[in-house]
Amino acid sequence: MSETGIIIVGAGKHGWELDSYLLDAAREGSPLRLAGYIDEHKAPGPWGSSRILGNFETLRQMAAADPSKPLQYITAVGDNRARREMVGKLEALGCPNLVPGIIRHPFSSVGLKNEIGEGTCLAPGSIISTEARLGRHVIMNMRALVSHECVVEDYANLNPGCILCGNVRVEEGAYIGPGATVIRNVTVGAWSVVAAGATVFTNVPPGVTVMGAPARKIMSREDLPSRP
Ligand SMILES: CC(C)(COP(=O)(O)OP(=O)(O)OC[C@H]1O[C@@H](n2cnc3c(N)ncnc32)[C@H](O)[C@@H]1OP(=O)(O)O)[C@@H](O)C(=O)NCCC(=O)NCCS
Repeated sequence: MSETGIIIVGAGKHGWELDSYLLDAAREGSPLRLAGYIDEHKAPGPWGSSRILGNFETLRQMAAADPSKPLQYITAVGDNRARREMVGKLEALGCPNLVPGIIRHPFSSVGLKNEIGEGTCLAPGSIISTEARLGRHVIMNMRALVSHECVVEDYANLNPGCILCGNVRVEEGAYIGPGATVIRNVTVGAWSVVAAGATVFTNVPPGVTVMGAPARKIMSREDLPSRP
């Protein structure tokens, strides 16, 4: 199997995590190899197991050098809105061969009939059971669990140890905090935040933060981004 390069966009600690997932995956036979980091705010130089190659312009030049060859990238930014903004900037570079790739740690588990969108990462210990759909640029962090028929929309962030029971819907950009549980058939609205350790029994509207068990709304967010 020939090796395939992938660029991590964002040289921060989440980038280091993705870097280590790629090394683990390579040890288990994955052809995916880290081709380097791109960062708008850090100077080129060593980072993680690789190097910061440059900024978005560097990435544009890399993609433009051989337009017939796909160049994969994955974003490494935990903040959901910042991640969406970053993807918008990458798409605006105008390089059709610059495409989001999926990183799947070898100790993640994906059951039958699931869909995983481009640009999404599955961390160690994450589990998707069956007939679930994960959108694009989703972060599924360590030991996050997604049960049957869940839908997780683009730019959502499932933090370590959270649990989505059956048929849960997590709308675009929603943030499910570490260790939180969302019971079956519940919807968490777009860009909402479920606090660490919360237990959600009823639908959460868009743009609010809920906390506790049972989870209650503690604040609304005025600066909700519009749906594209
Ligand atoms: C929900 C959350 C985003 C709220 O953040 P915030 O708005 O900055 O809230 P604050 O930290 O100012 O806390 C406000 C109050 O809520 C309490 N609180 C904060 N998080 C809480 C939680 N998860 N459960 C219960 N109470 C919580 C605080 O103790 C504080 O109480 P006080 O007013 O009596 O002192 C945050 O607490 C949270 O859960 N973040 C998870 C971050 C994380 O670990 N991410 C994982 C990355 S891998």
